[in-house]
Amino acid sequence: MMLMSTRGLTRQFAGLHAVEDVDFDLPQGQVRALIGPNGAGKTTFVGMLCGRIAPTSGTVVFDGQDISRLAAHKRINLGMAYTFQITSVFANLSVAENVALAARRRRHGGAVQDAVVRALQQVGLQDRLAQNAGDLSYGHQRLLEIAMGLAQHPRLLILDEPTQGLTDSEIAAFKALVRGLADTTTILLIEHNMSVVMETADVITVLNSGRVLAEGSPQAIHADPAVQRAYLGTGG
Ligand SMILES: Nc1ncnc2c1ncn2[C@@H]1O[C@H](COP(=O)(O)OP(=O)(O)OP(=O)(O)O)[C@@H](O)[C@H]1O
Ligand SMILES: [Mg+2]
Repeated sequence: MMLMSTRGLTRQFAGLHAVEDVDFDLPQGQVRALIGPNGAGKTTFVGMLCGRIAPTSGTVVFDGQDISRLAAHKRINLGMAYTFQITSVFANLSVAENVALAARRRRHGGAVQDAVVRALQQVGLQDRLAQNAGDLSYGHQRLLEIAMGLAQHPRLLILDEPTQGLTDSEIAAFKALVRGLADTTTILLIEHNMSVVMETADVITVLNSGRVLAEGSPQAIHADPAVQRAYLGTGG
């Protein structure tokens, strides 16, 4: 079953085709990596999935429902969670308060405090509950954002460059976290770190100049000459 699909999804900015005519299918339970050069349209694409950016044309379907015009907060209630490429935690609130705010954004049966503790344990920040989020290192702020997504118990978790700024040991922990989540959560991961992509993704989609250049297993994508020309050869 497809959890998320797009057809002909397109976004123009003043004549620039940031995303152009993208047909995309994400089966339930898959870990999908979305890769491509800077400016390829990755953030714009997921922005349309989660409702932050309105498409110029095309459709977005989640769990069989056309959500192309649904407000972002309503998509959260359907079970979509999204972390931003640019860190966006509330610096003057504690770690736990940030996660509790996120948990409350999705109206959900479970107790907020349980969701907060569990999500912080999942990312390894359980010892920093009371600390001001603004005092965390950049890498820990990224992990806090992932916890904010997890506290919503999402069916689809979208992460935009979550490992940017993480140390090697934090990246190793992130890979383990994604593998552990894969049983219960469909994941769409925008990622430039190829070891994270190769070790966590079931399938990779490559965007280039707003279009899908290639899609396939990590091995197939890594060996694809067109992908190497567009991306992997140039600092990817
Ligand atoms: N709000 C905007 N207004 C105008 N142009 C935009 C806007 N947002 C993105 N763009 C342009 O659209 C294209 C796609 O940008 P996008 O941020 O989606 O790429 P990306 O693949 O996420 O890149 P990166 O790897 O650097 O994060 C770029 O050319 C970018 O400059
Ligand atoms: Mg981006």
